[in-house]
Amino acid sequence: MNPSLIIANWKSNKTLSEVEDWLEKFSPNYNSINKTIIICPSFTLLSEVKSYLENKKLKIELGGQNISQFENGEYTGEVNAAQIKDFANYVLVGHSERRKNFEETNQILDQKINLVKKYGLIPIFCIQGKDTYIPKGVGIVAYEPIFAIGTGNSDTPKNANEVGLAIKRKGYEKFLYGGSINSQNVASFTSMPSIDGVLVGRASLDPVEFGKIIKLA
Ligand code: 13P
Repeated sequence: MNPSLIIANWKSNKTLSEVEDWLEKFSPNYNSINKTIIICPSFTLLSEVKSYLENKKLKIELGGQNISQFENGEYTGEVNAAQIKDFANYVLVGHSERRKNFEETNQILDQKINLVKKYGLIPIFCIQGKDTYIPKGVGIVAYEPIFAIGTGNSDTPKNANEVGLAIKRKGYEKFLYGGSINSQNVASFTSMPSIDGVLVGRASLDPVEFGKIIKLA
């Protein structure tokens, strides 16, 4: 059996002092047995979280929440692949919040995946349904139906599993579910045969709850 992959997407949340508090509370609850944990903080927090994890020797990976579709240069406000690679091995691409609020098109997502691969990062590519376009070079696919994000109404494990089977049939390596995951429902998803892990938003902001999710996943 593949180890579960549990990813925290903090979205646009947390200041430096809030992150220090989260890490202090999370560390005692953390148990890494056979599970890959990835935290995706805002870019401003990556350095702090990386130092903390190294100092405490915690085996937790870091991911960016986004990546510029351009390499270095005159792109004010952008964070490029090489800059992310200084801190993280993973990066989220194609999240529905970026598609909706920042008008990311399939063409932009293709450019992003090209750069992710060029700089040796691992993409976690978000899809909103089983027919969402997936660029070449993606191995980890996260199904996050829009109705389930931040609403408390997750998809059913059965339906998520069916999407997972369809995605796996196309040859993708890992399939994750995201959308209103919490410690109460996580096991019902990770016990499904096609689901290799979860992508957690709101519930990952609470260190104790996220610790529980990891244990129960
Ligand atoms: P919620 O867990 O808050 O529904 O968010 C899911 C998500 O968008 C993770 O990327």
